[in-house]
Amino acid sequence: IGRHVLYYDSVESTQIIAHKVAREGAQEGTLVIAGEQTGGKGRMARPWHSSNQKGIWMSLIVRPMLPPEKAPQFTLIAAIACAKAIEEVTGLEPNIKWPNDILYNGKKLTGILTELQGEADKVNFLIIGIGINVNQKNEDFPEHVKDIASSLEIESGQPVSKVKMIQKILKYFEKYYVLYMEKGFAPLKILWESYAGGIGKPIIARTITGEISGTAIGITDEGILLIEDHEGNIKRIYSADIEFPS
Ligand code: BTN
Repeated sequence: IGRHVLYYDSVESTQIIAHKVAREGAQEGTLVIAGEQTGGKGRMARPWHSSNQKGIWMSLIVRPMLPPEKAPQFTLIAAIACAKAIEEVTGLEPNIKWPNDILYNGKKLTGILTELQGEADKVNFLIIGIGINVNQKNEDFPEHVKDIASSLEIESGQPVSKVKMIQKILKYFEKYYVLYMEKGFAPLKILWESYAGGIGKPIIARTITGEISGTAIGITDEGILLIEDHEGNIKRIYSADIEFPS
């Protein structure tokens, strides 16, 4: 992973470049990194603020021999790799908010966007987009995200090396990817849960079909979120925005 690196000073989105080179046959583990993005993409078609050199904006191409329904697990694997890297490089102990946000003190440090290109029965390639706020100061964030976003520098009180962070993320991603292909998701689920903030707490999940509230129970071996609603029914959540009401 990360043996082939494509670096760009400024691009619209590393996701777009990664899709293009993957379609042209880029090999597994190819990494696309940009100094800044002019049109960074977030989950659910939201924009991702990345028009500065202070964060890590990168997309990783992987080609696992798996059916497409396994793709969401890669988001969780990437989240664990990022959380572990943040821990080792900065000493901070971040939380993962299902499926893929990495938070510290309730503020977002990292977002992950996994996009799938595949057929009915197999993944062709996955593009795992990782955005990490590294050396931004509070005033670097646009007004509407100031209260919900933070950076490694703000939280740790000192500048953080982007190169060190990238090296650690790739190292752990590779390690967990190998573990996953050998042993399946079960050992990773345990790791993921060790970072998950909200298990056992009240939770609200907003999905495209509506809102489900209840208690967060955990994730399944497939990486699906489980919520027990107020009637005691267990609901399986495949895709949603979640909130922990206080
Ligand atoms: C989210 O939390 O909504 C996901 C954000 C993902 C952002 C990264 S930055 C690198 C890659 N390129 C993009 O345009 N998006 C992802």
